[in-house]
Amino acid sequence: MKHLLGIEPLDKATIITLLDRADAIHEGQKPSDVLAGRTVVNLFMEASTCTCTSFEIAVKRLRADVVNVSEAFSSSKKGETLLDTSRNIDAMKPAVIVLRHGSSGSPAMIAKHVSAAVVNAGDGTHEHPTQALLDCGTIRRHKKRMDGVTVTIVGDILHSRVARSNIHALGKLGATVRVAGPRSLLPSGVEEMGALVYDRVEPALEGADVIMVLRLQHERMAGGYVPSLRDYSRFFGINAKNVRAAKHDAIVMHPGPINRGVELSSDVADGARSVILDQVAYGVSVRMAVLEKVAAK
Ligand code: NCD
Repeated sequence: MKHLLGIEPLDKATIITLLDRADAIHEGQKPSDVLAGRTVVNLFMEASTCTCTSFEIAVKRLRADVVNVSEAFSSSKKGETLLDTSRNIDAMKPAVIVLRHGSSGSPAMIAKHVSAAVVNAGDGTHEHPTQALLDCGTIRRHKKRMDGVTVTIVGDILHSRVARSNIHALGKLGATVRVAGPRSLLPSGVEEMGALVYDRVEPALEGADVIMVLRLQHERMAGGYVPSLRDYSRFFGINAKNVRAAKHDAIVMHPGPINRGVELSSDVADGARSVILDQVAYGVSVRMAVLEKVAAK
C-alpha cells in the first residue's frame, strides 16, 4: 500500500490488517521504527483541530519529525497551486504527505506527482479514510464483531466524506448500513453503495447497534437544504428520547466537531452510550498503523 487515498479501493483483508495493527498499538504494542528519524508533512488546507492533532501525535509516537502547514500560512494565499505546493514540499524529501483539502480528488491528484506516500485526511465531499477506519475499529472494540452489526448514520450524508468512507468500510466488513436524513441531504445513488435509506429518524434507529451522528456541514451547503436548524434538530436531532428506539446497548458516535443541540443533544453526547472520546483516542492508533503501512519500504 503506497498511499491511502480512500476506502473504496481497499479490500476487506487490508482493512482488517490495519484494524488489527491499530488494536495492537492501542493495547500497548511497540510501534515499528520504520518512520523513526524521517519526516511527515501535515498539509492541512482546510480547518481541523482534531484530525491534524491526531496525525501529529501519531507521527511523534512513531518517532518521526512532523511539519504542519496550514492554509492560513501557505503560499496558496499568494496564488500557488496545490500541485506546486506539493512538489515543493516533496523536493524536501518527506516520507509522507498527509493532505486535507476542500477539493474532492486532490490527494489522488498529488499522489501522481510526488514521490512521498500520500495519506488522505479528508478531501471535499469524497472520502476521509482514517476516520472510517477509526470508526470501524471503535465499533469492533465495543461490539466484538462487525458482521451483522446494524449502523445507522444520521445527518448530512450528501456533504459527508465521513459517511461515504464509512458506507464503503462498513459494507466491506459485513455490517448493515442505514442512512437517515432529510431527502435534500441524502445523495442519489446512496442505495447503490449498499445503504438502506430512511427519511425519518425513528424507524432508522429501531434495533440499531450503533448510531453515528454527523455534523450539519454549513460550509459545504450552498443554502436551502434545511428550512432551519431548529427544524432540523426537531426532526433529525438525536436526543435522549429517540435514542431509546435503538438497542438498549447501542453506542453513539460522532466524528466531531459537534454542533451541540443541533444534530446531537448534550446529554447524549456526554451520556453513558457515547463513545466519542474513545473514537478520538483510537484515532491516534489508527493513524499510526496507517503511517507505518504506507512508509514501509
Ligand atoms: C469531519 C471532517 O472534517 O470531515 N471531521 C473530522 O475529520 N473529525 C467531519 C466534519 O467536519 O463534520
